Amino acid sequence: MANIRTEFAGLRLKNPVMTAAGPASRDGMTLLNAAAGGVGGLVAKTVSVRPADVPRPNMAALKEGRVGSRRGILNAELWSELPVEQWLEKEYAIALSSGLPLIASVGYTPEEVSKLGPKLEKAGVHAIEFSTHYVGGHVEIAKALREVVDVPIFAKISPKVDVVEVAKSLETHVDGIVGINTYGPCLRIDIETGKPMLGSSDGFGWMSGTSLKPIAIRCIADIARAVKIPVIGVGGVSSGADVIEFTMVGAQAVQVCTAAILEGSTVYGRIAQETTAWLNNHGYDSLDDIRGIALRHMDGSAKLIPPPAVDMEKCTLCGLCPKSCVYGAITVDKKRNLFEIDKDLCEACGMCISVCPYHALNAA
Ligand SMILES: Cc1cc2nc3c(=O)[nH]c(=O)nc-3n(C[C@H](O)[C@H](O)[C@H](O)COP(=O)(O)O)c2cc1C
Repeated sequence: MANIRTEFAGLRLKNPVMTAAGPASRDGMTLLNAAAGGVGGLVAKTVSVRPADVPRPNMAALKEGRVGSRRGILNAELWSELPVEQWLEKEYAIALSSGLPLIASVGYTPEEVSKLGPKLEKAGVHAIEFSTHYVGGHVEIAKALREVVDVPIFAKISPKVDVVEVAKSLETHVDGIVGINTYGPCLRIDIETGKPMLGSSDGFGWMSGTSLKPIAIRCIADIARAVKIPVIGVGGVSSGADVIEFTMVGAQAVQVCTAAILEGSTVYGRIAQETTAWLNNHGYDSLDDIRGIALRHMDGSAKLIPPPAVDMEKCTLCGLCPKSCVYGAITVDKKRNLFEIDKDLCEACGMCISVCPYHALNAA
């Protein structure tokens, strides 16, 4: 049985799946529900010196395409709508009663984090993450927080900054980097009403969920290659396969926000179980065995693959790959049990390999 315990910056987690700052970590009870749902560590909603005044509606599911699959959400939420005093007096204590490591999230200016940091530490949180969400000033905030607290501190980075430059500038000031926050601004219109889906002043919102994952994976790969401190991945995690992918680009743990909003608090335990199952099925003992293995293939040289070969033991002749072969190189005929790749037409673009749900195609 693979072991998915993880340890970073002195925090010990029974599994690498954490909550992320957001509505699914909005108070102590919500965090306790996450604990009951199998989460490995808790990150609370961002607090600041005053409660946020949020527009409504502030969340919209991104239902794309004919089938309306949920690729994520747009949100115009801000930080916690609860007064920080309530967090200090009540909410952190409720979350701490779970016995899990608890990371508070705080924003946004150096003055604000210096004021709140010691109070968060006194409330018993095990670490503090600061959120800059496009306001910048990362190093000044990190220094301000480092001066006033002893617990580990983590910087949460947004995808639109130069993540390598920012991570390097932070490396000596923080105990880890969390990437990434939502991407935006973005806009969606409800075509039945002709109005923006969100109630912010310009209708704009910030994107999260599955659509964000390729950006998050790229950012984590870049950050993990740039710094030696722990990196925590967040952005579109909704399955064990996502945890594996983030780990392969160097993540030490992951956070989950949108999937918990869409699926509820049992999502964390499901993701953790799927992670263990993947490691077991692939013969690995722990996440350490695969951490960063994808980075060595990102050496700056372009790759060339030959036309793919098919493993007929795995192929079900489902017919997905010929549909997405723009070069018309694949023929599938279920009646004749036939699968053929015309090597003269095949451009070795790799599309068929990526669409096959059964991993039946491989670069030969
Ligand atoms: C509705 C909503 C509210 C959020 N609030 C915060 C917040 O208060 N502080 C913060 O640092 N990130 C916040 N985030 C960003 C998430 O923590 C996370 O970085 C981002 O959504 C990407 O992860 P996901 O794809 O799993 O949602 C929020 C995200 C959403 C969707």
